[in-house]
Amino acid sequence: MCGIVGYIGPRPCAGILVDGLRKLEYRGYDSAGLAVLDTRASVAGEPPRLDVVRAVGKLSRLDDALREHPLIGNVGIGHTRWATHGRPTEANAHPHLVGEVAVVHNGILENHVELRRELVAKGRKFASETDTEIAAHLIDIELANGASSLFEATRNALSRVRGAYAIAVVSRKEPDVVVVAKSFSPLVLGIGDGEMFAASDVPALLAHTRDIVFLEDGDIAELRRSGPKIQRLLVHGDGSPERFTVTPVVRTPRRVDWSPSQAEKLGYKHFMLKEIFEQPAAIENTLRGRVVLESSDVDGTEIGLGDDAVQRIRRVVLLACGTSHHAAIAGRNWIESLAKIPAQVELASEFRYRDAIVGEGDLVVAVSQSGETADTLAAVRDAKRQGAKILSIANVVGSAIPRASDAALYTHAGPEIGVASTKCFTAQLAALVLLSVWLGRRRGVLAPERAQRLLQGLVEVPSQMRAVLEQADACQRVARRQIYAPEARDCLFLGRGLSFPIALEGALKLKEISYVHAEGYAAGEMKHGPIALIDAQMPVVVVAPRDQHYEKIASNVQEVRARDGRVVAIVTAGDSSISAMAQDVIEIPEVDPELTPFLTVLPLQLLSYYAADLKGTDVDQPRNLAKTVTVE
Ligand code: G6P
Repeated sequence: MCGIVGYIGPRPCAGILVDGLRKLEYRGYDSAGLAVLDTRASVAGEPPRLDVVRAVGKLSRLDDALREHPLIGNVGIGHTRWATHGRPTEANAHPHLVGEVAVVHNGILENHVELRRELVAKGRKFASETDTEIAAHLIDIELANGASSLFEATRNALSRVRGAYAIAVVSRKEPDVVVVAKSFSPLVLGIGDGEMFAASDVPALLAHTRDIVFLEDGDIAELRRSGPKIQRLLVHGDGSPERFTVTPVVRTPRRVDWSPSQAEKLGYKHFMLKEIFEQPAAIENTLRGRVVLESSDVDGTEIGLGDDAVQRIRRVVLLACGTSHHAAIAGRNWIESLAKIPAQVELASEFRYRDAIVGEGDLVVAVSQSGETADTLAAVRDAKRQGAKILSIANVVGSAIPRASDAALYTHAGPEIGVASTKCFTAQLAALVLLSVWLGRRRGVLAPERAQRLLQGLVEVPSQMRAVLEQADACQRVARRQIYAPEARDCLFLGRGLSFPIALEGALKLKEISYVHAEGYAAGEMKHGPIALIDAQMPVVVVAPRDQHYEKIASNVQEVRARDGRVVAIVTAGDSSISAMAQDVIEIPEVDPELTPFLTVLPLQLLSYYAADLKGTDVDQPRNLAKTVTVE
């Protein structure tokens, strides 16, 4: 995973780089470091200095290190690490300095073993266990062998590596340049006034510019104060007379509409809590301009399918990972119930490695907050190769998955910083309902009256969400009593129908941020295993809104109570039977049964948040996790 940043301009860069890294810390936080070119010496005819400061642990440790060893200069690169190759030690922290070159890297160089062996045989000494240091050696060798510029040296070096990278390089030999390159890992450029920025993700740049260039795979760029020079590097397979070719390309900057304050906590204790409370606004943004109540329909222009193409869809295959996978499960149910198209959900990490059969007649819907998850991206590319149409539902505009798709439906939820996804989950749900209604109307299987009721209900969801969020204090009390209780070591989440993915999501949230073992289960499956776990210590969170599954899940609650399990029930206002059996009850307003997930998930997010906060875990940056998983 990891986050990288780069800066070249007139301003002292250390603070700019650290601030950028702070916005990327969600990508990894095992160690961090900066390399800065101090050109003051060159005024006196001396070569510039290239200084590196690194620290194990979170960015605050790098801040401490920089106080002891300040870095002065206007050109530099930085890195925040999620360890892949080598433990999180200072030696393995980036930047890696070899000779006169410093490198930061996000990704994995797949042929690192053979390259390292070759370099060691040539007498090269390694200071770390990382694959990145190999790239630094290769660039250093190219410079020593007479490459005419850092750009050329980096280009030649990268033609030798396989794998995923976003890389930034500086050198004492060419102090007025930062070279960056991208292949599979994300990298964006920020265009300033007489200054240039590079980063793994847009929020790192928002304090300085909103004019962003989204680099494509294979792009390599030389950044100078005046702007970027971008080329496309095409590496040929063995047997070709030329190892690679390069062609100049123009990438037009896009103006992003995120504001810097969206990437701040604005008085909330954690980003996650802020993002939980931002959900009503996020849904409004996802729906804006797309719900057309006058015609009981959805404006699906962005979906990019003509009427004929819609009729030809034989199956919808939803691909996703993590929380997005849970949204996709709900999406499958909606596509089947509202559009009457057979639908299936796949974990992208499984789909891509089996001989999955997709092709013409399949609409593949890739669901991803970041638009960069490596497994989802690979699964999309595979499905596309096999001839399927790809629609992505993503939050980050211009990210890799939408770019690899035929069309994109963006969620417009604003930047999500907390590692545990919340507002992007409900925004994905909204996009999936819109897609299902749109398909159902085009295929003539969703009556206008039903579509009208549903869309009207969807428009009202944000205000109902606000009502649920007003119960945050009650959720905190339940979290203290039931989940934070010393005897509660595990927690079970049960749901049926649309509440099943919500149970999965509730369990995932709890595991991710509070490290309490939790399982989400389809309530009908309880008798096939989880019931054995239930005793008087076991909190069981039951997602039981008023819908067609209510009576069945009420029986499941009885079974839990018969074994002394402690029940926390999420029910519709006015509920009496399940509420009477539960120790704790949180109510959601009455809502169309198709729309319950938008409301039932909120108490679960809050329960997890407060349980984690009571335990004092690092809510926004839970251990071992990263927000954007750009490695397999
Ligand atoms: C990571 C994040 C999760 C996210 C998942 C999929 O595991 O921590 O919050 O749900 O990746 O990410 P995506 O960006 O594809 O939705």
